[in-house]
Amino acid sequence: MTHRILFVCLGNICRSPTAEAVTRAKAQARGLDLIIDSAGTGDWHIGKPPYGPMQAAAKAKGYDLTSLRARQVSGADFGSFDLIVVMDDDNAAALSAIGPTDRVRRFTDYAPEAGLAYVPDPYYTRDFDGTLALIET
Ligand code: 4NP
Repeated sequence: MTHRILFVCLGNICRSPTAEAVTRAKAQARGLDLIIDSAGTGDWHIGKPPYGPMQAAAKAKGYDLTSLRARQVSGADFGSFDLIVVMDDDNAAALSAIGPTDRVRRFTDYAPEAGLAYVPDPYYTRDFDGTLALIET
C-alpha cells in the first residue's frame, strides 16, 4: 500500500513544501495515516524555511508552513518512500540520475482537470495563490 509519499521540486521552498502541508492536512482530515515529506533536487536552500510569499499564501488558506525546512533529495529516499511525486519534468530528470523511475509520478497526473503537464514554479511566476489552488486540486 502507498502510505509514504515524498513531494519533490527544485528548491523545496515553494511547491513541494506546500504540497507536503496541504496533503498532510487533507490526510489528517480524512483520518488517513500517511507519512508525508518533501525535498528539492537543488541544494541552495538546505535548512531554510519555505519562501515568505509562499508561506503567506498558504497561511491565508489555513496551512502552516513555518516548521518545514528544506532538504535535498537523495538516493536513500527511493527506499524510504512508496511514491515520489514531482512538480515538473526537470525534477523527474534529476531524480532519474539517482534512482529508479518506477515509483516517480507527476503531481499534475492527480489533477487532470487542471490541464497542465507540470506545476508552474511560483518563484518565477509569482503566482503563489495559483500554485496553492492547483496543489489543493
Ligand atoms: P520551488 O521553487 O522549486 O517550488 O521550491 C524554487 C525556489 C527557489 C529556486 C528555484 C525554484 N531557486 O533557484 O533559488
